[in-house]
Amino acid sequence: SFNLRVEALFPMALRFEILGRFNRARAARLTLPHFTCQTPLFMPVGTQGTIKGLTTDQLEEIGCQIILGNTYHLELRPGSRLIDELGGLHKFMNWKRALLTDSGGFQMVSLLHLADITEEGVTFQSPVDGKTMLLTPEESIHIQNNIGADIIMALDDVVKTTITGPRIEEAMYRTLRWIDRCIAAHKKPDVQNLFGIVQGGLDPVLRYAIGGLSGGEDKESFWRVVAQCTAGLPENKPRYVMGVGYPLDIVVCSALGADMYDCVYPTRTARFGTALVPEGVLKLKQNAMATDERPIDPTCSCMLSRDLHTSIVEGRFPEFVRRFLRTQFPKGD
Ligand code: GUN
Repeated sequence: SFNLRVEALFPMALRFEILGRFNRARAARLTLPHFTCQTPLFMPVGTQGTIKGLTTDQLEEIGCQIILGNTYHLELRPGSRLIDELGGLHKFMNWKRALLTDSGGFQMVSLLHLADITEEGVTFQSPVDGKTMLLTPEESIHIQNNIGADIIMALDDVVKTTITGPRIEEAMYRTLRWIDRCIAAHKKPDVQNLFGIVQGGLDPVLRYAIGGLSGGEDKESFWRVVAQCTAGLPENKPRYVMGVGYPLDIVVCSALGADMYDCVYPTRTARFGTALVPEGVLKLKQNAMATDERPIDPTCSCMLSRDLHTSIVEGRFPEFVRRFLRTQFPKGD
């Protein structure tokens, strides 16, 4: 009740209550300004304010809790000032549940070969009109304040995990310096949560605590870094592994103590005609499917991550993992 009284005086933009554990895995209730979510959770990517091909009603129906948007794309078109004037991204896309925006740095570096990173920020040429633009940590936060998502991400200096040498160390320390600038620039801490990002490549010394993964490294290195980060990150806060979306990785990272994930993989793969099912993938464009009347997945009507959550709460996480692995990899490979 003390906590409730403190919260009445100082409204918090986030509450994270752990409901169940199995070894390092946790199932939690994550209360955000627009929605109360259950973790582990997967966030589909709606880069430009829409999950392509699905209405917001359909997203609610399938149990989607948070959608991810991208600062970089939304600022280029239609522009965050306009989104703000129209009442924020929630209203703009008619989505009542939670939203998260990524800060823009990662998208620029991964999408634009001409992006130039200095201490000031990321300089790039607008693909819309060719103008030179500079995204600083302050500008990223200003744009994300305008967009109005429940969770906003700090601007980070992202390097590929496959490179080696001093650049990794430079990016890690710059990301730390930039977070101070992001915190100072954040104008809406009562209604928007600023998440920091941990860089540091695959070097265990540089990894203070989870970003920059899923960049081509092997699974063993990736899981090792996640294990190290979750062990070092605070127990009472959500841990978000960015850009991770293969079902196997979600299950393994959850077992290692991570809570949140995002990836274009399931929605993009679906648009190309492939469904994710307990056995792996189902290619819907194959000739044999033309006359197949069965549902895509007759065993389950819910999202992967809801099963994960309930199995941890109900103390049957090991059985969940065993069944998941046996079904996905029946030959044990
Ligand atoms: N999405 C996937 N990985 C990353 C990362 O390292 N940083 C940011 N900002 N977004 C990401």
